[in-house]
Amino acid sequence: METKAVILAAGKGTRMKSNTPKVLHKIFEKPLLGYVLDNVKNIVSESFVIVGHHAEEVTNFVEKNYELAKTVLQSPQLGTGHAVSMVCPELENFEGQVIILCGDTPLITEDTLKNFIETHNSLKSDLTVMSTIFDNPTNYGRIIRDKDNSLKCIIEEKDATPEEKSVKEVNAGIYCLNWEKIKPAFSQLTSNNAQGEYYLTDIIAWGKQHNLNVNAYILENSDEIYGINSRSNLATATRILNERKLNALMDNGVTIVDPSSTWISEDTEIGSDTVIYPATYIEGKNKIGSNCKIGPCAHLRGDVEIADNCKIGNFVEVKKAKILNNTNAGHLSYIGDSEIGAHVNIGAGTITANYDPITKIKSKTILKDNVKIGSNTVLVAPVKIGEGTNIGAGSVITKNIGEWALGLTRAPLKIIENWVKNKV
Ligand code: UD1
Ligand code: CA
Repeated sequence: METKAVILAAGKGTRMKSNTPKVLHKIFEKPLLGYVLDNVKNIVSESFVIVGHHAEEVTNFVEKNYELAKTVLQSPQLGTGHAVSMVCPELENFEGQVIILCGDTPLITEDTLKNFIETHNSLKSDLTVMSTIFDNPTNYGRIIRDKDNSLKCIIEEKDATPEEKSVKEVNAGIYCLNWEKIKPAFSQLTSNNAQGEYYLTDIIAWGKQHNLNVNAYILENSDEIYGINSRSNLATATRILNERKLNALMDNGVTIVDPSSTWISEDTEIGSDTVIYPATYIEGKNKIGSNCKIGPCAHLRGDVEIADNCKIGNFVEVKKAKILNNTNAGHLSYIGDSEIGAHVNIGAGTITANYDPITKIKSKTILKDNVKIGSNTVLVAPVKIGEGTNIGAGSVITKNIGEWALGLTRAPLKIIENWVKNKV
């Protein structure tokens, strides 16, 4: 059956204390909303992102990065139920199912969502809500069940009696709807509650009243529905995502010497027998081959491709670069906007000067196979060094150099014998 997604992202995010809309706060350089959109992109035919606060910025992000996503404006923001009702005109004749998620809940996985939808279908459910058990359920909506354990309704913290507050099963804020059956609910929601908002959660009780098949899917790993409301939540989510990534890499044969000081983004692939040394930070989208050594203290900033048997050593920063096999950059270098061949040696302190601050243009450095760059070299881009060429230490290279040559810019060495002796 065709599935579409609705992602709620119109809320304010007051507790972030930020000029940036909450869903555009980043983990490893990717906005929270990006995580949610990526997790649904293999599942749904189309996503609708409900925007409101900072609508323009959020819309720009979605339009630039996600072809199959559309934004829908909610103004003013009258609650989560009101937010979903904004897509009713878009989905007027839609006959499939709709999953609803929040833009501030980036840790949910594609596998869980697939499983959730499968369960919804195998139960022939009209409405399935994801729940989980929290020891401290404060602030979440509580799942209220009838005596026969079937779902009854969801009660928000602010509307809950002390007895309801003691319930530890909470609403994860993720739903799967048989759209045709549940659609009428959105014109019937009321704002008769403590917050004066149209609650999406009221569709559960509505479904029960209309004798529909309403179910809960209990999620075991409650980390996945961790929501971001504050900077401290953002740090915790980063740690959870990182741990998940490092464990997956180690399971696939990558050595992480010190998981407590290593940070690797979800979108980084690493081949087996590669060793990541402590204090390495890898953000954005990258691909690292097998048998490489990365770090200690290396910084990969995204769009980096490194083939097999390479070494990126301490205090080396790499950004937007393609590096072929058996190439080393061992110490204290910056490699940006570069194409680097195989068996290249980049000496300590080599810098690709890729940015012209006057024209604001970034240019490319190309080093062909077997090039050897002496220590403390500046490669002023755009620049291309041909196969096998050597560059003498301390050079500033401003022109292209052909194959198998020596390039060198250096003031002649002056030796003044007895200079010190004559001074004293
Ligand atoms: C909501 C649920 C709660 C659940 C929790 C899970 C309701 C009424 N409550 O509470 O049961 O346990 O999520 O995280 O749904 N939003 C809009 N437009 C609005 C209001 C909110 O787009 O008018 C968006 C927000 O940007 C956010 C999401 O909806 O992404 C959830 O809203 P939020 O105010 O955070 O709801 P919670 O109080 O967390
Ligand atoms: Ca929330």
